[in-house]
Amino acid sequence: MSVRTLEVWVRWSPDDERAVGTLAHAPDGYRFEYAPRWLDDGIDLSPRFPRNAGLLGPWSMLPGVFAGSLPDHWGRFVMDRRAMARGLRFALDLDRLAFLGDNTAGALVYRPPLEDAESQTSVVELQELATQTQLLLEGKLEDLAEQITMAGSSMGGTRPKYAVGIKRGRFYIGPTPTGAEAWLVKFPARSDPDDIGAVEYAYMQMAELAGLQTPEFRLFEGGVFGVKRFDRDNNRRLHILTFADVFDMGDLVTTYATGYEDLLRATWRIAGARAAREMLGRMVFNLLSHNRDDHVRNHAFLCDRHGKWTLSPVYDLTFAEGPNGLHSLALGESPNPTYADVKALAARLKLQGVDEAVKATRNTLASWPKLAKAAGVKASRVKEITSRLKAVDSGF
Ligand SMILES: Nc1ncnc2c1ncn2[C@@H]1O[C@H](COP(=O)(O)OP(=O)(O)OP(=O)(O)O)[C@@H](O)[C@H]1O
Ligand SMILES: [Mg+2]
Repeated sequence: MSVRTLEVWVRWSPDDERAVGTLAHAPDGYRFEYAPRWLDDGIDLSPRFPRNAGLLGPWSMLPGVFAGSLPDHWGRFVMDRRAMARGLRFALDLDRLAFLGDNTAGALVYRPPLEDAESQTSVVELQELATQTQLLLEGKLEDLAEQITMAGSSMGGTRPKYAVGIKRGRFYIGPTPTGAEAWLVKFPARSDPDDIGAVEYAYMQMAELAGLQTPEFRLFEGGVFGVKRFDRDNNRRLHILTFADVFDMGDLVTTYATGYEDLLRATWRIAGARAAREMLGRMVFNLLSHNRDDHVRNHAFLCDRHGKWTLSPVYDLTFAEGPNGLHSLALGESPNPTYADVKALAARLKLQGVDEAVKATRNTLASWPKLAKAAGVKASRVKEITSRLKAVDSGF
């Protein structure tokens, strides 16, 4: 199957929607044309996407502003499995956008949807989501319920995760019920240890203690890490683009062509000097906490209905080996960036606050063993990470 054209709308809330334009897969590649009214007074949906009348493109890859609506690993796996179970095969990214319809992260939605399914909201237990994840990973598709697919297919990232509503301690999948908060819950991937949620929880606690801007987060029963969604606020939505989407990096998660300097410069340009200082703090945290999975999709910008761009709260912090053991985002040439590298970068960018960021991060990382133990991280893992953090610090 191949969907050839789709309307792109922005849905700030159920009663505040506007047509942005039409996206097409033409014989020469992807094309886009703005709705004339959007050109009159609509906002810029990406800092780098053109805003001209007439037919734009062709592009061989879906431009990042729209590609950002598509999940990468897990969400794509869920939706492609669902399609397969129905005898469909998605040939183009436009098929996947149509499959998502209104069920996207961020504020952009795609119409007409592939299926006009009237989905119901249902209560779910986290244990049930864990079981469904297992079945999915084992290739058992029969029981893949509509709501599970919806909840599992909209968000990016590698680890199995679901968008859920939470209200009075109960979890909901399907359309978020009135009064529920929108959260993300993350489960271990096949190759992950069981306590990966507890590690992420302790890392988020440390980030918060270091003064970084964290979303609300919790460790739910069974060691399931959950984070409140920052692209949702009741039934309102914010537009979100990752660093990768702004620069049209496609599926390229690991690229040595970019690094922290580009990220900091982009952050300053898009979201201002304060945001750049916050990003500097995140970089220092990632370096000292050995979060080497600090790739181009793990940094994002939010845009409100007035076109105001901000840096999103921090997310996806954990102890992680990067590609070939390196940080996904380089800083200088060494695999182990140092305090001197950070200072030199900050000086080039005229950014203040390096010493404070290093001190705050060192202080909070000292509480790793205590926080990790309290979160339920296995004793052997606590010990291993403690010694790796010490080694990083002494080489810094
Ligand atoms: N609190 C949040 N609110 C809204 N969107 C979020 C939130 N946290 C993460 N996201 C989005 O969901 C995506 C996946 O989340 P996350 O990076 O935590 O998952 P992951 O599977 O651990 O990723 P990775 O593949 O990098 O290991 C992110 O790239 C981000 O765009
Ligand atoms: Mg991620």
